[in-house]
Amino acid sequence: MTAAFVYKAGVLHAEEVSLAHVAAAVGTPFYCYSSGAVTSAYEAFAGAFSDRPSLVCYALKANANLALVRTLARLGAGADVVSEGELRVALAAGVPAERIVFAGVGKTEEEMAAGLEAGILQFNVESLPELAALNRVATARGVRAPTALRINPDVDARTHEKITTGRAENKFGIDLGRVREVAGLAAEMPGISLQGLAVHIGSQLTGLAPFRAAFERMAALFGELRATGHDLHQLDFGGGLGIAYRDEVPPAVADYAAMVKQAVGALDARLVFEPGRLLVGNAGVLVTRVIYVKEGAQRRFLILDSAMNDLIRPTLYEAWHDIVPVSEASEAETQAFDIVGPVCETGDTFARQRPLPPMAAGDLLAICCTGAYSACMASEYNMRRLAPEVLVRGQDFAVVRARSDYAAMLSRDRLPGWLEAVDGAPQGAA
Ligand code: LLP
Repeated sequence: MTAAFVYKAGVLHAEEVSLAHVAAAVGTPFYCYSSGAVTSAYEAFAGAFSDRPSLVCYALKANANLALVRTLARLGAGADVVSEGELRVALAAGVPAERIVFAGVGKTEEEMAAGLEAGILQFNVESLPELAALNRVATARGVRAPTALRINPDVDARTHEKITTGRAENKFGIDLGRVREVAGLAAEMPGISLQGLAVHIGSQLTGLAPFRAAFERMAALFGELRATGHDLHQLDFGGGLGIAYRDEVPPAVADYAAMVKQAVGALDARLVFEPGRLLVGNAGVLVTRVIYVKEGAQRRFLILDSAMNDLIRPTLYEAWHDIVPVSEASEAETQAFDIVGPVCETGDTFARQRPLPPMAAGDLLAICCTGAYSACMASEYNMRRLAPEVLVRGQDFAVVRARSDYAAMLSRDRLPGWLEAVDGAPQGAA
């Protein structure tokens, strides 16, 4: 966690706001984000590249909450979007269209039209069929689509296999060996304006070497394509820089920046970055209450009021999240708990055998480093309501997404005519 989350008078605070106070006001579970933590993460990253033409496009997939995106937009961030929905959030948050990059391996023609309509900075195109579709959509509108080719550099990011994207066997990007041919075809297309290259090799990287390998390949390719007549001026290095969830030691932003500058040398290109997790991951916690302390035959369980539908990372990626009591432990004694949700799946487990001070029903816990890929990956599985999101700034807090509402959840379903009568007799009844 960051300095934004600290104990004050024995209670965990987000900046100046007590999480126990927020829990009393909005109920549990809830996500809580710190504006200050987001701001310092953005400023550290953007500041590291302020000495050369660059643009930091926040990857909305990490957390598309409107208030959070607006916080970043006000700092000057651009946006990396992967769907029309994210495009709409970015625009509504006030990100200027000329700072929006549209990524993703499966953009539909409707999404391309929405991007062109908005006048975005660039489409990162990942295949020849996608390039042809973009050309069709742009030509039909009488415009040229600003385009970068996303390259698959065939580099192993050495991260969890489910979030590795830069190996030749992954679905992402255009194979290194075919780029020259695809660039040649792009140059012939009336609806395409080829302006750059893009790469993204994976997420939660904790070493610089894979980045360096990919970026050096990209810089060489960029120079080569330029030498053969392509007027490229933008180089997008994607996101992927990891954070410390447990004992990882991810590269410092300054070291990452130094490596990038070394890899591109004197190349005359505007650098674009798409960090997601790095900007918001450490800026959030999930606050949850213990419903029961259950003594099992072999384990002692804490059964929480949050579940895998609120936070799927532990079960999906075997991800580690620190879990701490909101009221600071007064005694040194700890016990080992399996910390689980109420859903009927053994995978609904946040942590196993975690040492915590003695806990009782009603106690509050904070699940740490859940600003990224947490609330945005939540679902209403088991007809559980989505947890609300709270944004803190100094002494202020505001609910920036309300808890979902049972009436609204129920009203989404429709009954066909033959099932409408509530008092219909069971079928087959005499
Ligand atoms: N750019 C592209 C093209 C991406 O695919 C991604 C993430 C990013 C940027 C941002 O990467 P970041 O800086 O956040 O690492 N749900 C997973 C992470 C999925 C990442 C997908 N792509 C998790 O919870 O770990």
